[in-house]
Amino acid sequence: MASVSMTDITSTPEWTALAEHHAAVAGRHLRELFADDPERATALTATGADLVLDYSKHRITRDTLPLLTALARAAGLSERTEAMFAGAHINTSEDRAVLHTALRAPRATALAVDGQDVPTDVHVVLGRMGEFTDAVRSGAWTGHTGERIRAVVNIGIGGSDLGPVMAYEALRAYADRSFTMRFVSNIDPTDIAEATRDLDPATTLFIVSSKTFTTLETLTNAKVARQWLVNGLGGDESAVAKHFVAVSTNAKEVRAFGIDEANMFGFWDWVGGRYSVDSAIGLSLMVAIGKEQFAEFLAGMYAMDSHFRKAPLEENLPAIQGLLNVWYVNFFGTETHAVLPYSQYLHRLPAYLQQLTMESNGKSVRGDGSPVTTVTGEIFWGEPGTNGQHAFYQLLHQGRRLVPADFIGFAEPNHVIDVDSDGDMHDLFMSNLFAQTQALAFGKTAEEIAAEGTPADVVPHKVMPGNRPTSTILAPKLTPSTLGQIIAFYEHVTFVEGTIWGIDSFDQWGVELGKVLAKQLAPVLAADKADTAGLDASTAALVRRYREMRG
Ligand code: F6P
Repeated sequence: MASVSMTDITSTPEWTALAEHHAAVAGRHLRELFADDPERATALTATGADLVLDYSKHRITRDTLPLLTALARAAGLSERTEAMFAGAHINTSEDRAVLHTALRAPRATALAVDGQDVPTDVHVVLGRMGEFTDAVRSGAWTGHTGERIRAVVNIGIGGSDLGPVMAYEALRAYADRSFTMRFVSNIDPTDIAEATRDLDPATTLFIVSSKTFTTLETLTNAKVARQWLVNGLGGDESAVAKHFVAVSTNAKEVRAFGIDEANMFGFWDWVGGRYSVDSAIGLSLMVAIGKEQFAEFLAGMYAMDSHFRKAPLEENLPAIQGLLNVWYVNFFGTETHAVLPYSQYLHRLPAYLQQLTMESNGKSVRGDGSPVTTVTGEIFWGEPGTNGQHAFYQLLHQGRRLVPADFIGFAEPNHVIDVDSDGDMHDLFMSNLFAQTQALAFGKTAEEIAAEGTPADVVPHKVMPGNRPTSTILAPKLTPSTLGQIIAFYEHVTFVEGTIWGIDSFDQWGVELGKVLAKQLAPVLAADKADTAGLDASTAALVRRYREMRG
């Protein structure tokens, strides 16, 4: 393991200063903070690439950010950022570089890591992906019977699914709608059955995406897909070559599965699964939107990378947001973080961010293996506005829990629709975003409610306490570039938090035990008479019941 020396952040004077500052600020209301500081909205807004971050509706004063950036300096944030971009092995428990940023760096970037000319290798794969994409989209790539491809099914799970499906859904407006795109992840047989039931094997292409190519769910689904294809094409195994391609770092396992290496698109161990949408794992997205728009997506990520790397911490969007998240988790004791995109196209963004943030920062030991001395990680969750407004916002407004929330919106819609006398539909939509952050911040007092003639016994029920913190992230329009910027923004937010906590945000050992136990249990469940000896009493009873129910 690479040696690491990470500061125990809670023992620094900067942490103590923040704790004292919190004691002074926590009791103040946003109404008062805005009244006291007329320039607050302008002062507490930052821009990076095409994104605007308004963080003025947070429980902070002008003194807070300098204290938070001092904490970041104590944690060595800038040095660690440079180390990441330069390819140092900051994934300590796996002794690996962390170079997702190299996947979107221009070809001319000089970056040699562990003997590899990284940008050259990245662009060779991008070039192959582009050729393949052109062939599929133009119809030059045909299936076994000579027909052109009409449906593309990505089979993968975790980072090999959530990135592609989230980004495809987000960019549907830019996709070639003549293709049917499907994404299969779950080992629940329902998933592959529903994804393939109305497809024609002769015109279907499967992209099997797995960094390791050993993941049970993906390999099982890929085997089922292969059976479906071969059966549907008259039992001819040679059909597989024209209907299956693989995306992986593991050529040996790809060959063992029966996919020709010529039909494999590689990437490298320095790309974490949850950071891989911009690697060959994004192949399904590239087929959907074309290589040119995929290049714009990468350029958007690069623009945010450059901002994160160069902008001073006080003006740096991911640094500001990441530090605010630490402020709430560690000083206000918040447990969850809502992400509320005001774009139906971003409906999978919360699920994507759950893996990005929770698999990265749900850790209990620091980089050197010592226990953390403070809470880490946030529970990310959310739904697109305005659907969430009619579901869970009640708790955000009047519940006793404090839930910091990110509101994400776009100035220009992907569809301009006028609603008779009601005007522009997008304006109606966005007025909800602004109204919600307003209501959350400022609320409504008992006096204001009583003044409207509300009966005294109803007044307490209608009081809106306000003082609920939100960020508003505004972009000109949802495009491949701005989506790339938003993804890179959250990647770096996650990195900032992990750096403050001194943890390795790039391993995920916590998911392994469940995988091992499932492998052990599978033959027990399959047996006619389940042999539950050796199992704990609860699991044994459940397995017996399951066998009885299956009959
Ligand atoms: O859930 C653990 C995990 O390793 C994720 O980190 C990863 O994205 C997912 O499984 C899929 O892994 P692979 O791409 O190797 O199939």
